Amino acid sequence: MTIISTRPIAGQKAGTSGLRRKTRDWMAPHFLENYVQSTINAIGGAKGKRFVVGGDGRFYNAEATQIILRMLAANGASEVIVGRDGLLSTPAASHLIRLNNTDGGFILSASHNPGGIDADFGLKFNMANGGPATETVSDEIYAQTTTLAEYHIAQTPDVDLSIVATSDLAGMDLKIVDPVSDYAELMKTLFDFNAIQTLFKSGFRMRFDAMHAITGPYAKTILQDMLGAPSDTVMNGTPLVDFGQGHPDPNPIWAHELMSVMTGPDAPDFGAASDGDGDRNMIVGRGAYVTPSDSLAVLAAHAHLAPAYAGGLVGVARSMPTSAAVDRVAAAKGIPAFETPTGWKFFGNLLDAGKVTLCGEESAGTGSDHVREKDGLWAVLLWLNILAETKLSVADLMAEHWATYGRNYYSRHDFEDVPVDVANTLMDDLRRSLPTLTGQSFAGLVVGDADDFSYDDPVDGSRSVSQGIRISFQGGARVVFRLSGTGTQGATLRMYVEALETDPDALHRDPQHALADVIKAAHEITDLQRRLGRDTPDVIT
Ligand code: G1P
Ligand code: ZN
Repeated sequence: MTIISTRPIAGQKAGTSGLRRKTRDWMAPHFLENYVQSTINAIGGAKGKRFVVGGDGRFYNAEATQIILRMLAANGASEVIVGRDGLLSTPAASHLIRLNNTDGGFILSASHNPGGIDADFGLKFNMANGGPATETVSDEIYAQTTTLAEYHIAQTPDVDLSIVATSDLAGMDLKIVDPVSDYAELMKTLFDFNAIQTLFKSGFRMRFDAMHAITGPYAKTILQDMLGAPSDTVMNGTPLVDFGQGHPDPNPIWAHELMSVMTGPDAPDFGAASDGDGDRNMIVGRGAYVTPSDSLAVLAAHAHLAPAYAGGLVGVARSMPTSAAVDRVAAAKGIPAFETPTGWKFFGNLLDAGKVTLCGEESAGTGSDHVREKDGLWAVLLWLNILAETKLSVADLMAEHWATYGRNYYSRHDFEDVPVDVANTLMDDLRRSLPTLTGQSFAGLVVGDADDFSYDDPVDGSRSVSQGIRISFQGGARVVFRLSGTGTQGATLRMYVEALETDPDALHRDPQHALADVIKAAHEITDLQRRLGRDTPDVIT
């Protein structure tokens, strides 16, 4: 056991989901060690505590896992449960924390960000409930990073993590577990596996794009081995440290390989994809892409068809920029709908307090009270369970949904790598203009309301301010602006546009056309073209 002197490293402040930086930053002397020790200090030390450790397998996952294990041992942790080869999907890690009643876990991931020595790496701490560290704990971790003077590490050789076994690491119990089995068992308790097996037996065809990320082994085990889907169901199913040079973000842009299968000749019935660490999902039917906001609403409307939710939902929650489609389902069911800031950490208290069963974000995240993270494969399985019960195609299910609840046309436009000062000035100016926006007209739309979103947590009373600027227009359309908190280069401006349509003859339009006026108004309000020097977004989802 050694104590190493160190000095604070500037800027180790977590964003929307843990700390994400360039991989080479993490590999620099003391960077990872400082952040791990700061986390341990922030939670009152590791002595006698038990943790889960695992990551999405990206470049540096293996090396960082070894360092974290040695540091936990040196800080007196009594036990660590680690995924074989240091691998765990984020939802599986959340489940293991809960299943084993541990004190928390370290998840090595930069989620949907690319991986590689010149790409991104990340680390986040999840608490004993299995969910991401709250704002309060994240603030304490950051405070610790600013005064850190030393860290503890055991001087031991690397542990062989390739075999499921139990051993001892410098006095700490080390349990290497199969990353998939406990998670797969949990899924079996939630869904009607027989009904889904019957669906596949009837000739239902599916493609699951694991995008060379962590869900490959999970999807193969659950979809192919347990549910009997054909062996070519999972594509890109071998995890690679650089995700095959791809961008493991399940949306129509980055999952274009799947999209072309689903829109091509002889397309399968159902397509799905997941991200780097397995917490996101994309759902697509034959020629029918489902936006994440709509997916959340459809799942809320039909979740009772799956055994775990047969008793109904107690409530739902969505992040503020997510479309209000799910609110309409909640209203029809007479259950509460909560609106939280962006980031899964805000759902934790609501789930723990039993106020919500389902929650989701427009960024391809959906989940329930079964873990405290969003869960990509879970969403896919719930969709399969619903399709098995309703016997409808994805396109028909969507058409039925919109006919019942109306359609919240929705799109997110991302402007990436914007100079940080340009992005900050745009947001500051917009914030300053808020009091005068009401009543003004842009592209023919009149502003009804405009504010900077703050959230009062109904469970612990904490307040989070400046969580995105929302501008509502008369007639129900709205636009939201916020800056990404997960990027590692420049700033990413996110513009979220939405408009509700209830006219039965206007439910099947191209969202970009249906939203054209709102997009125009949003550009006018921010003077976007002049400030950014462009008006075409890098990514439209
Ligand atoms: C993005 C998403 C957000 C999600 C987060 C972590 O954060 O927008 O919904 O919770 O990734 O997966 P952002 O980059 O917008 O801060
Ligand atoms: Zn993710």
